[in-house]
Amino acid sequence: MPLQGFATTEGTARYRERFVGSAAENHFRFEQDLWLSSIGVGTYLGGYDEETDRAYADALARATELGANVFDTAANYRFQRSERSVGEALRQLTGARAAARDEIVVCTKGGYLPFDSEPPKGAEGVRAYVEETFVRPGIIEFADLAAGSHCMTPRYLSHQIAQSLRNMDLETIDVYYLHNPETQLSVVTRAEFDARLRAAFEQLERERAEGRIRAYGVATWNGFRMQPEAREHHPLERMTELAREAGGERHGFRFVQLPFNLAMPEALLLDNQPYEGARVSLLEAAKALGVTVVASASLLQGQVARDIPEHISAALGSLSSDAQTAVQFVRSTPGITTALVGMSRRAHVEENLQLARVAPAATDDYSRLFTQEGE
Ligand SMILES: NC(=O)c1ccc[n+]([C@@H]2O[C@H](COP(=O)([O-])OP(=O)(O)OC[C@H]3O[C@@H](n4cnc5c(N)ncnc54)[C@H](OP(=O)(O)O)[C@@H]3O)[C@@H](O)[C@H]2O)c1
Repeated sequence: MPLQGFATTEGTARYRERFVGSAAENHFRFEQDLWLSSIGVGTYLGGYDEETDRAYADALARATELGANVFDTAANYRFQRSERSVGEALRQLTGARAAARDEIVVCTKGGYLPFDSEPPKGAEGVRAYVEETFVRPGIIEFADLAAGSHCMTPRYLSHQIAQSLRNMDLETIDVYYLHNPETQLSVVTRAEFDARLRAAFEQLERERAEGRIRAYGVATWNGFRMQPEAREHHPLERMTELAREAGGERHGFRFVQLPFNLAMPEALLLDNQPYEGARVSLLEAAKALGVTVVASASLLQGQVARDIPEHISAALGSLSSDAQTAVQFVRSTPGITTALVGMSRRAHVEENLQLARVAPAATDDYSRLFTQEGE
C-alpha cells in the first residue's frame, strides 16, 4: 500500500521543532503553509546503477536527520531510478520512525519522456521504446512531442503523475513541476505555448482536486533567466494569469524552480519580468505574485564549489569549504526559499548540512558581495 498523506503545516512544524536549539534561526522558512528547509536534496546527477540508487536513498535519509526536509526529483532523473530512491528513502525514514510523511516536502517533475532504468540502445531503440510505451497505448502522439523528447499534454501529465506516485510508492506528491516547459517554445508559437500551458494547468488542477498532487509549478533552466524578447522567455505574471484561468483565485501554481548560484545570479539581478507594467527581477515578481522560489544547481553541478575569491568567502562568513560558501550564497539570497544541492554522497550531505546550524548571511554582509573587491 502506498505511503499515505502529504506535507502539512503541522507535520513540517513538528519536523522543525526537532531542530530547535541546533538549527539556526531562519534555516526553516514558512511558505505556502509549510516549513521548508533552506537546503534541499536534489537527485539529478549520477550513474544508472544500483550503487547510486542506494547512495541516494542513504543521502536523503541522512539529510533528513540533519535538517533537510525538501526532496527534489524528476521522472527522467537517472531514468526513473532517482524517484525510486526517493521512495526507498521515505520507506526507510518512516519505517524507522525517523520522520513522518507529513514532515517531508516531496517534489517531482514531468515533461521529458523518461526511459525505464536504463536508456534503450541507439536511435532505433529509442523510437521503439517511445512507440511501445507511449504512442501505442494512446498516451501521446508523435506530433505532441517538442524537440523529440518533451510533452505536456493533459493525458501525458496524468500518466506521468500516476507513474511518479508508483515509483515513489506515494499517495500524494507535494509539488509537481512541469519540467523545462521552455523546451516547447523552441518549436511552437507563444499563443500555442500559452494554450498548452493553460491545458496543462487545468490537468494539474484536476490532479489536485483528486488528491494526487498538492501544488504545482514550473522548473526551468533558461525560461526565467532570459531577456523578455528571447523566444524561450517565461513571464511569471502571465503564467499566474493562466493558472488563475485554470484554477481560480485558489489555484495551485505556487512554486517555481530555476538555477541560481554564484555564476548564475539572474533571478536576483536581471529585471526581465513584466509586472504591473514595470520590469522587475524574477525574485521580486515571484514575491508579489505569491509564488515560492526554489533554486536548482546551487553549486552549478560542482563547478562553483571551488576557487571562490576571498572577498566573497569573507562576506559569506568564512565557512570551512567553498561548497558551503556557494550554498550559503544561495540560501542567503532574499526571496530564495530553498537551495537545492545534488548530493548522492553522505560526506557531501554532512558537509553541506553543517550550514543548518549557521544563520544565513545578514543583509549588510550579503550586499557587500555586489560591491567591488576591496571597495
Ligand atoms: N531544470 C531543472 O528543473 C533542474 C535543472 C538542474 C537541477 N535541478 C534540480 O536541482 C538539483 C541540484 O542541481 P544539480 O544536482 O544539477 O547540481 P548542484 O547541486 O549544483 O551540484 C551537484 C554536484 O555537486 C556535488 N557536491 C555536492 N556537495 C558537494 C560538496 N560539499 N563538495 C563538492 N561537491 C559537492 C555532488 O556530488 P555527489 O552527488 O557525489 O554528492 C554533485 O555532483 C538537482 O539535483 C535537481 O534536483 C533542476
